Amino acid sequence: MSIDKRFINQFSNVTSRAAHASFYLVGKKDKNAADQAAVDSMRSELNKINMNGQVVIGEGSLDEAPLLYTGEFLGTKKGPDFDIAVDPVEGTNFVANNLPGGIAVLAIGEKGNLFNAPETYMDKIATGKIDKGLIDLDYSLEKNIKNLSEYKCKEVSSITVCVLNRPRHKMIVDKLKDLQVNIKLITDGDILGALYVSDPKYNVDMFIGIGGGPEGVLAACALDSYDCHFQGRFIFENEKDIIEAKSMGITDLNKKYELKEIIKGDSLFCASGITDSEILNGIVIEGDKFVSETLVTHKNSNFRKIVKSINSINE
Ligand code: FBP
Repeated sequence: MSIDKRFINQFSNVTSRAAHASFYLVGKKDKNAADQAAVDSMRSELNKINMNGQVVIGEGSLDEAPLLYTGEFLGTKKGPDFDIAVDPVEGTNFVANNLPGGIAVLAIGEKGNLFNAPETYMDKIATGKIDKGLIDLDYSLEKNIKNLSEYKCKEVSSITVCVLNRPRHKMIVDKLKDLQVNIKLITDGDILGALYVSDPKYNVDMFIGIGGGPEGVLAACALDSYDCHFQGRFIFENEKDIIEAKSMGITDLNKKYELKEIIKGDSLFCASGITDSEILNGIVIEGDKFVSETLVTHKNSNFRKIVKSINSINE
């Protein structure tokens, strides 16, 4: 089964409009307001789509988030059954502080095919297309770098690795420095961080480190369409996390998830720029219209494009 191509425009319209809604909060120092504007818009637009959608990754459980909560049903119920993962604003700090990298994101899978990720951290590794077994979350960093450098016929000193700038990554950064690998430190936004490996033009050979689990699943959906390599392992820090994971059916808490276990079958991914980034331009207002850029991937039709759209502000 495939997700019909007519949904490409419909879902990219959802993230475009969410990005536009959040755009008015750029630089207003209010992460929650920026997120809320995108949540409201995303939910209202998703509810217009002829589908029977259910949120598998949302804003939290029903008691934490009344809108776009995990488990919420969306759409007109006249259409196919979809799993929906949303991150209405990825990079809330970026939007609140008018910094590059704020995006509105969603991913769609066929019912039962998109991993229902707990709200915990995930240890992640991503590269472009490679041979099976070459790069692994369980190998040492040194071995992964060496293998990638041989595979790509590039000196280790020409390899670039993207890592979130966090104290927990000190050992990774120190090791990369020892190896003379180029480090691309990002302050937030590890969906875009992981997506850098999808195209040589971003000059990032590997993405590694610990970030949000939901962000890992969303990135994996797009990376699957580019035939990239991705693995993730959830990190459960306390008893509450463990109870939540078990209630979601996760029995092996140390399991390393391969890309194909995170997203099965067809998928659709849309990310629209709120503020500019290396991958996407942010929202631009032109009179009574707004211009948005959306990275759209649709696995089964090999559709992978940055789509520019112009929409009326008042629609
Ligand atoms: P928000 O947009 O929800 O603030 O997330 C930004 C982000 O940088 C994600 O991209 C990343 O996965 C996560 O936060 C990392 O979490 P932490 O800031 O706790 O290290």
